[in-house]
Amino acid sequence: MTDHSASRGLAGIVAAESALSFIDGAAGRLSYRGYDVHALARHAGYLESVYLLWYDALPSAIELAAFEGTLAGQRQLPESVIDVLRGLPAESQPMAALRTAVSALGQVDPEAEDISHEADLRKAGRLVAGMPTIVAAFDRIRRGLEPIDPDPALDHAANFLYMRSGERAGPTAARALDTSWLLYLEHGLNASTFTARVVASTLADMHAAITAGLCALKGPLHGGANEKAMEMLLDAGSLEKVEEFVDRALAEKRKIMGFGHRVYQTEDPRATHLRRMAEELGREAGNTKWYDLSRVLEDLMLERKGLYCNVDFYCATVYYSLELPIDLFTPLFAIGRTAGWAAHVMEQHMHNRLIRPRAEYTGELDRPWVPIDRR
Ligand SMILES: CC(C)(COP(=O)(O)OP(=O)(O)OC[C@H]1O[C@@H](n2cnc3c(N)ncnc32)[C@H](O)[C@@H]1OP(=O)(O)O)[C@@H](O)C(=O)NCCC(=O)NCCS
Repeated sequence: MTDHSASRGLAGIVAAESALSFIDGAAGRLSYRGYDVHALARHAGYLESVYLLWYDALPSAIELAAFEGTLAGQRQLPESVIDVLRGLPAESQPMAALRTAVSALGQVDPEAEDISHEADLRKAGRLVAGMPTIVAAFDRIRRGLEPIDPDPALDHAANFLYMRSGERAGPTAARALDTSWLLYLEHGLNASTFTARVVASTLADMHAAITAGLCALKGPLHGGANEKAMEMLLDAGSLEKVEEFVDRALAEKRKIMGFGHRVYQTEDPRATHLRRMAEELGREAGNTKWYDLSRVLEDLMLERKGLYCNVDFYCATVYYSLELPIDLFTPLFAIGRTAGWAAHVMEQHMHNRLIRPRAEYTGELDRPWVPIDRR
């Protein structure tokens, strides 16, 4: 007999085949296309890892330069998309603004409805190139400033920091942002990637799937957690108050953002690098307050609940140290993850079968019809 009972939250369900990333939750292992994420975070850049994900091979120096050059030439947004951003209320939630702009980008993409692999690759490139420009332009427009044109001489992360602030970032800052995107790049069938794949499985186009992924990433149980983690650190306030803060939150059955994971039962390998970068940025700025506070909170959570921090916890401190506004933390996650979503969309389009699970029906059956005048 077939078992029709539902798995709450689809926990433990294998819903697709994928050759993109491998996660061993018990061992705390993550690899992209067979390359350990620790090696990539130490030695590779974000776009190098995107190339690996999309082409299933590490690029040669010439291939990488060509790839980076193509994307650098595609950062400028069409004027109509900038106009969409100008038309939004200044108080728009940034993830909502981002999904609106990405959807608008799809309206003017010359290959919007073409879902061939070649067109998918080209659209994925344009999206990865354009996404940082959207976030930077939105942030300037809402502050009453003019968007800054991308600088093709700067690399992907340095250019974002420049377009947002108008100032050239130092190498540690640009490297930290680049590595955070590398760590956010791809992570199996998480909620947003699954969403993007479901949309792609209907043979809808790349922009439709990426817009859907953005919608799923927005929530605090997923991408929104890095913002909530920073708000929580600010709320906890100081080393002296953090223990009381954690105990009160746990007693009130509140979740501590940036802790726990559906797949990892040990340290999230991405957190290892973000912790290191949070410390490095703090030391460079001569202010390790948020790093120190995070370390104590991390120890408390392990002791009280046996929970490890996830990717979003130290990312909060890293982005805060880069003086980025807290409500841009989730859009920054999205910038990194877009290339991962795109890789899944391409995988789905190439080996498609409509994703259509079933629900376990828990309602009544065989209720007698009652005419409207007798209800
Ligand atoms: C990531 C997350 C959604 C995974 O959820 P899940 O697999 O459905 O696990 P649950 O929410 O059912 O949690 C299992 C238990 O651990 C507890 N728990 C999990 N994460 C917790 C957290 N961050 N703080 C406090 N308790 C937590 C739950 O309260 C629950 O305890 P209980 O069995 O006594 O009720 C969850 O850990 C969470 O909400 N974390 C905070 C948000 C976050 O950081 N998200 C980013 C993920 S990368």
